[in-house]
Amino acid sequence: MTSRQKFYITTPIYYVNARPHIGHAYTTIACDAIARQQRMAGFDTYFLTGTDEHGQKIERSANAAGKSPKQFVDEVSAEFRALWDKMGIKYDGFIRTTDEHHKRGVQEMFRRIRDNGYIYKAKYTGQYCVSDELYVTEGGPGTPCPICGNPTETVSEENYFFKLSAFQDKLLKLYADQPELIRPETRRNEVISFVKGGLRDLSISRASFKWGIPVPDDPAHVIYVWMDALSNYCTAVGFGSPDKRDHDMFAKYWPADVHMIGKEIVRFHCVYWPAFLMAAGIELPKAIVAHGWLLFEESKMSKTRGNIVRAETIIDVMGNDALRYFLLREIVFGQDGSFSFDALVQRYDSDLANGLGNLSSRTLTMIQRYFQGKIPYPSAAERTAADKNIATLADSVIKNYNQLFGEYQFSRALEAAWSLVGAVNKYIVEQEPWVVADKTDEQGRSRLATILYTAAEALRVVTALVHPVIPESTRKIWAQLGLAKIEQVNPQALKWGDLTLGANLGTIEPVFPRSEKNAVERMQQMEQERAGGAKPDSTQEPAGTGAVAGQPATQAAGGPAPNANAPSLSPTAKPAPISIDDFAKIELRVGQVKVAEKVKGADKLLRLEVDIGTEVRQVVAGIALAYEPDSLIGRKVVIVANLAPRKLRGLESNGMIVAASIGEQGSPVLAGFLEDVPVGARLK
Ligand code: MSP
Repeated sequence: MTSRQKFYITTPIYYVNARPHIGHAYTTIACDAIARQQRMAGFDTYFLTGTDEHGQKIERSANAAGKSPKQFVDEVSAEFRALWDKMGIKYDGFIRTTDEHHKRGVQEMFRRIRDNGYIYKAKYTGQYCVSDELYVTEGGPGTPCPICGNPTETVSEENYFFKLSAFQDKLLKLYADQPELIRPETRRNEVISFVKGGLRDLSISRASFKWGIPVPDDPAHVIYVWMDALSNYCTAVGFGSPDKRDHDMFAKYWPADVHMIGKEIVRFHCVYWPAFLMAAGIELPKAIVAHGWLLFEESKMSKTRGNIVRAETIIDVMGNDALRYFLLREIVFGQDGSFSFDALVQRYDSDLANGLGNLSSRTLTMIQRYFQGKIPYPSAAERTAADKNIATLADSVIKNYNQLFGEYQFSRALEAAWSLVGAVNKYIVEQEPWVVADKTDEQGRSRLATILYTAAEALRVVTALVHPVIPESTRKIWAQLGLAKIEQVNPQALKWGDLTLGANLGTIEPVFPRSEKNAVERMQQMEQERAGGAKPDSTQEPAGTGAVAGQPATQAAGGPAPNANAPSLSPTAKPAPISIDDFAKIELRVGQVKVAEKVKGADKLLRLEVDIGTEVRQVVAGIALAYEPDSLIGRKVVIVANLAPRKLRGLESNGMIVAASIGEQGSPVLAGFLEDVPVGARLK
């Protein structure tokens, strides 16, 4: 017997400084859906997830919570695990970086790299972002982190260094030889240009705190948390263990087939990780797939921003499958996408309750009523064009769905599947089986059988296809169709015409009840209670790693010239406090510059056309001495959008661009964003 092909997929391991939210759930759900699909297709699948528990960030969070690091990480790691269990996530391994076998494996990784000559000791003086555990080699004290924008801290330590610079060419060759390694294309291009820009050696140990894995033979140092964390993908499947079974497991599952990650940790996975592996002489993963961010109220959902939504809220009100379907259907994988309770409920009602749920209940109920609950035999001779169309559409949907799903284009795959749901619901309305049922002659019975068979067969196809995405509800529909073991259906081998004729249906029950009338309000209220409920949050981030400190004074650069009419604030002047309601009156929006040109006869002014999502505004801004017009095209800026229009040099200015005022001259520096933000997003 030939052994089955293996498939090894991983989520990032989650930091335990924050409680799990639906941003974390998004990655995990995507991996769970892929793993389920691969299991159905017959692969010996290993799906790994877990928690990232070492490092300065976690140590500080534990201190802030007044707990020992171990007690703290035990608690939060357990919360992640409990949530995945509640959500029915079928992981095969849950690794914690505090597990003994992991620690041993990381030390082995370090030793191998050192034995191969890629580690040396030197002094590091530079910036460090504790929030992202990232060395920021450019800039001095206070330099913002390129990932989160928080100010970095200065670190000066004797460290172990990894010769990352020795891997620049090897990495570039790797990206060229394996174009499929980094997906999507945009991320691949970013990585290539980052590496082309030059790689500096990387500090891979810290000596100023203790919460980490000791460097072998030099316990005064702990291993850099990203080397520790990335190694989990190997240690979880047996790397570094003397045990023969672990050894065999590593030989079987490594290299990973897919590392699924969020876009903010691409550099660690696509540059550092392959370099560490090459240095250690270990095979490289086959694919690293980056998805975008889940935005809530237009910015990345994160604890620091305080805009998180818990998965529990949604699951308790709408169910697991509603959350899974929404996230994979609504967000174009790879891009950022917004979460809102309204959109969730709308999707549920339209696609699940009215779409698949309706198809299932009306088809099965009619088979129950007209054919005593047995799948009817279709008439081969009298298939109409409408019947044939459904069969043809189903076969093409099977093909498209599998292809798109294999490319991680979940939203498009689901769209394809729901094109079949929509077509069959329409077919049922047009064929009017309830009218045909009145004809009791043989021809009428045969026509009725064909219609209901066609609907049931399409239902079978769709149910099997989307099982990895909505496992709970499809299992129920499957049982109602009288079928067994949906997990064992190979979605790639699905074809029209395999429905068991004459089989008895199971007990028919509604699968997607209509959402409660006040579902949105209930979920909002649950989240508000959590946020405002004065419940002590043991996972509060310590001061200094969260909010941006030392915000520069802002000035609005939409007036004629900086420091002239624009209401600029000098860095020392302290304006009178205003209420939140006063602030809410100012409509600040993200805009994108479409046109920029000098204003004749006014050397300080530029005429801009700025897209603010709903319209394109003309703004006259006093920034001509600081910015070349061409350099502004395409740039995202902050605009005061509800300022009364005014005329400058005969041109109407409809808003102000926000800028900081630097130095004695008040030279303007435009406010911008480190992360990608949608045009039109409101700042509040
Ligand atoms: N511990 C590191 C990863 C180490 S992997 C060797 C880490 N942890 S994290 O908890 O901050 O984030 C883990 C992952 O959670 C992100 O890569 C991303 O996949 C997911 N997300 C967290 N917030 C998210 C959103 N708001 N939106 C989408 N995904 C998000 O980074």
